[in-house]
Amino acid sequence: MDYSIIYSSGTGNTVILAEAIKEALPTQKCKYFGVSDGEEIQTKLVFAGFWTNQGTCDSSAKAFLKTLKNKDVFLFGTAGFGGNQEYYDKILDAVQENIGLSNKLIGTYMCQGKMGIAVREKYEKMLAEDPDNLNVQDMIDNFDRAATHPDLTDCEKLKQKVRALND
Ligand SMILES: Cc1cc2nc3c(=O)[nH]c(=O)nc-3n(C[C@H](O)[C@H](O)[C@H](O)COP(=O)(O)O)c2cc1C
Repeated sequence: MDYSIIYSSGTGNTVILAEAIKEALPTQKCKYFGVSDGEEIQTKLVFAGFWTNQGTCDSSAKAFLKTLKNKDVFLFGTAGFGGNQEYYDKILDAVQENIGLSNKLIGTYMCQGKMGIAVREKYEKMLAEDPDNLNVQDMIDNFDRAATHPDLTDCEKLKQKVRALND
């Protein structure tokens, strides 16, 4: 089936997932790959990518998702925190609120995505001011865990999910 991959990505993490999807599917069936150009999507199957901003998708993804009608939608995204499905499910629930009822959600995938060094520096400053604050240490540990993601394993898991759509 023809498909489109539309994503938004501020710092490049979500693009990595978008490319993994493209690699998992026949290239000749890909009718659009890139950020939304405002044109109506022609394919029924749409892979829609976002980065997490304040617990939901970024505003550009939000605007794009709201335009979709009668599509089969596969949502994919990255988040700085997490590494656990419960956290991702909460984000995905919030993201889905932007998808109209005429569409069908056919799959989802999320993984961690690295954050900018300024975030770690902010945490370090907080920790210096409050050395016993375990929450801040947790956030630093999470930052460091995120630093290598999305990695090959993340991409492989996504590819498996995408290939399974054809089964
Ligand atoms: C302004 C801003 C807000 C963010 N809010 C969240 C958030 O609420 N939860 C989270 O897990 N990550 C959050 N992040 C981290 C990004 O979602 C994460 O690094 C993502 O992988 C970025 O994807 P991109 O490289 O495709 O832009 C935020 C990042 C920025 C810059």
